Amino acid sequence: MEIERDQHISPPSLLAETIPIIDLSNLDEELVARAVVQASEEWGIFHVVNHGIPLDLIRRLKEVGTQFFELPETEKKAVAKQDGSKDFEGYTTNLKYVEGEVWTENLFHRIWPPSCINFNYWPKNPPQYREVIEEYTEETTKLSERILGYLSEGLGLPREALIQGLGGESTEYVMRMNNYPPDPKPDLTLGVPEHTDIIGITIIITNEVPGLQIFKDDRWFDVHYIPSAITVNIGDQIMRLSNGKYKNVLHRAIVDKEKQRMSWPVFVDANPDVVIGPLPELITGDNPSKFKPITCKDFKYRRLLKLPIE
Ligand code: SIN
Ligand code: FE2
Repeated sequence: MEIERDQHISPPSLLAETIPIIDLSNLDEELVARAVVQASEEWGIFHVVNHGIPLDLIRRLKEVGTQFFELPETEKKAVAKQDGSKDFEGYTTNLKYVEGEVWTENLFHRIWPPSCINFNYWPKNPPQYREVIEEYTEETTKLSERILGYLSEGLGLPREALIQGLGGESTEYVMRMNNYPPDPKPDLTLGVPEHTDIIGITIIITNEVPGLQIFKDDRWFDVHYIPSAITVNIGDQIMRLSNGKYKNVLHRAIVDKEKQRMSWPVFVDANPDVVIGPLPELITGDNPSKFKPITCKDFKYRRLLKLPIE
């Protein structure tokens, strides 16, 4: 069932206190591009509506994710992250109550390009899982390239500049499904502690239970649930490639005492060997480089160990 089209486009300046909502079907593409650029500079996060991804596909994505998390633990463990594995792919759970710990279970696997997919981490159950994820991958890669195109032009560069900066065809797309069941002590645990995303951009679908929050102007803002919207946020890699023009939004996810929250972020991530630093064309006497180039692999390693990064 298609949900009624949203007709609005909200330049961030007119909505000082809420996350911008951008209508991608607006025929004035320059206006759309400007709104994406401005939202990425000021907020590092925005919603897109009329984004072209069929709402029925989003419904099916939510359905396969929900069905997967409803499986008995033994079946979920069939795709578990391997003990001691350095890679992140697989199912993990943190659903034991420990004060100060996170309250969530997750499934994480690469979805694109085909050369980096390991189907061992894709659940066999529900049976339609693979078909749905493959369809969603096709749509998400298109949406992400469109947004990165606007952001590239916003830097005064060709449309492909940022996707090339992330490694072009080697850019990896990673699906993460997060389940946050009702939490008996929501004041003491978080779904996800505050962080910025270590990747390029993130494209997020959630269920109707709000919980995502972002930090801006010294306070936390709720990211409201908008039924037909997809939320996009800027990660560290785009911040660094853009020499700081685009903002890597600080965010966290809270949990609810009574309601189950779920989210389906897709991360657009540079390949580990790609060197991430400000795009050379941006660097001038007036705009000196703010970040030292570093391989994506080293960047993640240093972030994980909380080592300084220039
Ligand atoms: C995250 O940032 O990792 C969580 C996103 C969400 O659950 O909305
Ligand atoms: Fe995140």
